[in-house]
Amino acid sequence: MSNAALPGLERLLNMPEAMRPTPLIRLDSVSKRWGESVGVDAVDLEIHEGAFVVLLGPSGCGKSTTLRLIAGLETPDRGRVFIRDADVTARAPAGRGLSMVFQSYALFPHLTVRDNITFGVRVRGLPKATIAERLGRAVAMTGLEGLEARKPSELSGGQRQRVALARAIVAGHPICLMDEPLSNLDAKLRHSVRQEIRALQRNLGMTVVYVTHDQTEAMGMADRIVLMDRGRIAQAGTPEDLYLAPASMFVAGFIGSPPMNMIGAVHVPPALRFGILERDFGGDWVIGVRPENLEITAGGDDGLPVRIRDVEYLGAETLVYAESAAGPLIARSPGPLPPLSGGGASARWAGTAQHVFDSTTGRRLEPAPAIRSSRGTVPIPPADQPRDAAGHRWCNAHGGL
Ligand SMILES: Nc1ncnc2c1ncn2[C@@H]1O[C@H](COP(=O)(O)OP(=O)(O)O)[C@@H](O)[C@H]1O
Ligand SMILES: [Mg+2]
Repeated sequence: MSNAALPGLERLLNMPEAMRPTPLIRLDSVSKRWGESVGVDAVDLEIHEGAFVVLLGPSGCGKSTTLRLIAGLETPDRGRVFIRDADVTARAPAGRGLSMVFQSYALFPHLTVRDNITFGVRVRGLPKATIAERLGRAVAMTGLEGLEARKPSELSGGQRQRVALARAIVAGHPICLMDEPLSNLDAKLRHSVRQEIRALQRNLGMTVVYVTHDQTEAMGMADRIVLMDRGRIAQAGTPEDLYLAPASMFVAGFIGSPPMNMIGAVHVPPALRFGILERDFGGDWVIGVRPENLEITAGGDDGLPVRIRDVEYLGAETLVYAESAAGPLIARSPGPLPPLSGGGASARWAGTAQHVFDSTTGRRLEPAPAIRSSRGTVPIPPADQPRDAAGHRWCNAHGGL
């Protein structure tokens, strides 16, 4: 995705780690548990000013706990939380200079839209003129003009959502934390509010930490995604980093729909043994191939033999569902496909599309040979690179943001 609207951020993300300014928010080895229940486990995280960072992962992986630790609604058992270089670990939420938008919106039912939006700043005692000026701006930005006198019960879900957003804008805090703010909206509205939130964040130069379990939402909105798994960070990077070079089978399976095909190395025919498989075949490995990189054709004897189960023509693309000795496979190709008759078919992919994982640890073993992204091509590491390339940028689970 492009950060063209934010040239400053683009520059920042490309800067070598050592030259980057201090992160706006930093979690330093933060852990939080309740008895046996692990909220987060030794999480290291850096969030830079002006970034839109999405905490992503399945239910219960620790997204809300991470957000609440940043907000000060939870206190860590271990580790420290920093905002602008200040250790805020023990500081109350009100002293951290941030606003929060929750799934529930948390609006006062007896207050009007106007009073809900301005409640916090009135409590803080901001001058009346400042409040009026900010209110006008926030109402215009969120398209709530004309609804100022209504009560929340007289609003649609989308409008209530915007009131919660307007309240965060009026607060004027440079950091906004959002926990699944769109989950009460229907799919169509979710899409448009998503774009509004992104535009607002850019226009106001806010730093947003946004929680969702929806990978499409994360891919579309984030400058940086932090994908979590059981209280830990599975991988942190740009949407492209996670899609093109997933650090583990978990990441590969979570990002992308339909998910990446996983093929046990023993099933890979000699003609499709590329890179590490070619050099050192026999490992207990899993080969990952994205559906758009898998080609299923009738006939051909050097590919992986498959039986076609179903073909779904979806207009812009066609999905082919097949069975193989390695399990079910899905191929995706643009537009319609010529009819695939029954009988023998085979699956093929290019060496550049292959992802190799250790089936025991689930970790990525070798990067895709050349990963092309909007930020140029990631260099190809030498062939004698150690098996577990943990030190490499694309495998670094705890990379700075
Ligand atoms: N107040 C709490 N008491 C006990 N367990 C909790 C509490 N809050 C969160 N947890 C547990 O911590 C884990 C992470 O929760 P959470 O951060 O809410 O996940 P997510 O937001 O990713 O769905 C879950 O197993 C959850 O049950
Ligand atoms: Mg949650």
